Amino acid sequence: MSWRRNLKGKIRLEEPLKKHTTFKIGGPARFFIEPGDIADLKLLLTSAKKYKIPILVIGSGSNILINDKGVKGMVLKLNSASFRRIFIKRNCLEAGSGATLRQLIQVAAERALSGAQFLAGIPGTVGGALAMNAGAWGKNIGELVQKATVMDYNGNIKVLNKKDIRFGYRKSSLRKFIILSACIKLAKKNKKEIKDNINKYLERRRNTQDASLPNAGCIFKNPPGKSAGRLIDLCGLKGKRIGGASVSVRHANFILNQGNAKAGDILKLMRLIKTEVKRKFNITLEPEIRIWQ
Ligand code: EPU
Repeated sequence: MSWRRNLKGKIRLEEPLKKHTTFKIGGPARFFIEPGDIADLKLLLTSAKKYKIPILVIGSGSNILINDKGVKGMVLKLNSASFRRIFIKRNCLEAGSGATLRQLIQVAAERALSGAQFLAGIPGTVGGALAMNAGAWGKNIGELVQKATVMDYNGNIKVLNKKDIRFGYRKSSLRKFIILSACIKLAKKNKKEIKDNINKYLERRRNTQDASLPNAGCIFKNPPGKSAGRLIDLCGLKGKRIGGASVSVRHANFILNQGNAKAGDILKLMRLIKTEVKRKFNITLEPEIRIWQ
């Protein structure tokens, strides 16, 4: 396959994806690729199309459950320097999709730019956060986006303005593209206040969520007007264990990998939770995490 010869980025064969997910779960990727630049990415997309190779793009792997058989295709991680740049354009931060939210928040704070602090503690990349419209404390990243540069699966680049992008609760129309970068609108404020604000959000997160063992954040979306965590808690499921997977005793919408959980253990526990919440409250929970079966 000639595309492999022409690639500038890194390619690994049969790479265990458990090394690339916060759940620490996931079988091998046939090809695990970090494209070197946009030309590499285009080459990969067009080759995948030509040879009918499935593609999965991952960020920090913080909101995904990948099965133990792995991915018989290309897993792309936009982790090379050209996808991780962050720079200032007036009051906007132009952030590459491979940069982490942590880096984005840090750069913004250093430049006394306010507005992204609520993202503190969310363990994802800019691209992942935009694809799912990540949020916390009543705010979502979509509210900050002025523009996004994306590539479609044919390798064409498009610049989308705010009005061309739809963001909803944990979803966005950007998902059908590969996100390259976004312009995040922020406002000049006092640096110390911004840093204090970040610390406040981090502390709130420490007090309410569970970072004790590998997990993927909230597993289910909140049903309208309700908290999935509270509903699961009221079903008495905190601490419930199936194989290596258990419901967190701190926050019931978190499932923890106790050490060697299989993807199947997580799925079984999710099914049990769904059944119990449906039985007790007649509410159907929907997964928040992406599931690659
Ligand atoms: N609660 C319980 N028991 C639990 C968990 C929560 O009774 O086990 C109660 C809390 O006491 C509180 C209410 O449920 O009264 C809501 O809980 P919390 O403030 O923890 O927020 P959440 O609705 O569970 C949402 C987002 C989080 C985000 C937080 C903070 C979803 C699915 N979850 O959680 O996002 O960090 O608000 O804004 O939208 C994520 O996306 O992965 C995530 C964790």
